[in-house]
Amino acid sequence: MKRFGLAALGAVLAMAWGTAALAAPIVIKFSHVVAEATPKGQGALKFKEVAEKLLPGKVEVQVFPSSQLFGDAKELEALLLGDVQFIAPSLSKFDRYTKKLQLFDLPFLFDDIAAVDRFQHSPQGKALLDSMTSKGIQGLGYWHNGMKELSTDKDQLKRPEDVKGLKFRIQPSDVLEAQFRALDANPQKMAFSEVYQALQTGVVDGQENTWSNIYSQKFYEVQKTIAVTNHGVIDYMVITNAAWWNGLPADVRSGLRQAMDEATKYSNQLAVELNEKDRKRIAEAGKAKIQELSKDDVAAWRKAMEPVWKKFEGDIGKDLIDAALKANK
Ligand code: LMR
Repeated sequence: MKRFGLAALGAVLAMAWGTAALAAPIVIKFSHVVAEATPKGQGALKFKEVAEKLLPGKVEVQVFPSSQLFGDAKELEALLLGDVQFIAPSLSKFDRYTKKLQLFDLPFLFDDIAAVDRFQHSPQGKALLDSMTSKGIQGLGYWHNGMKELSTDKDQLKRPEDVKGLKFRIQPSDVLEAQFRALDANPQKMAFSEVYQALQTGVVDGQENTWSNIYSQKFYEVQKTIAVTNHGVIDYMVITNAAWWNGLPADVRSGLRQAMDEATKYSNQLAVELNEKDRKRIAEAGKAKIQELSKDDVAAWRKAMEPVWKKFEGDIGKDLIDAALKANK
């Protein structure tokens, strides 16, 4: 009896060990293209911290910044292939998967990041998170970066005519391409990791980005003027592979959702602070001139870029554009 009891105990222990060995943590790779000291870089680290705290031993989140694992060109494909589980591309990088997100690239659509936030929280904004499920992509949330400014290697950057004939690096977006064509400039789609060198070597004359990216990528060192245009937005959708996500155990999925919500709040608050801080740092560095614009200057840029709206209204949908405009106060 006693011997049988011991044997049974041994079997139970062996099974428990076996289960423990089988239940290794789910490894979640989160890849992105920006530096760690940016809103997205910090958001990804916060997600790791909260997810591992809420799901101890169940998940291990590995964060890969600065295009170390996958750059712009490959990260979406890698997600669909299951080589990475979380990415957060800018909303300008989804042209191949949906035309709806082109909305966010329409020049001068949103007054500021608060308006972007209001739209993203509206029913129409939330619905866009599910707009690519048929392509295998599930959106989990929006993360802010900030409003875009325009920069060039020229001394004069105040009015639309100042960029005529110049070459600009753009994200892979047809709307952004049309925006620069409307200015009689030459847009060139290029991965984020290649921009610094392209600016430095004169492959392109200019680019558009947030203060945070201009600072962390040192674009201000290789540009002469940054005009405070605030003509558009760079924000992100955090996405995952829909099949992988739906196949997770329910407790893991809900823990990850909670971690995503906390990371979103954290990152979005930080975005405003970091962009302000980085603008000051750029000014202090004294390398590129920061060009303020008058109301009249801004109106001229707005007018020059206006034709872009009509061109994309059909693909995006007038109702969606109207919903976005309502978010401006
Ligand atoms: C860019 O390509 O300029 C940005 O989208 C990079 C980023 O992720 O902020």
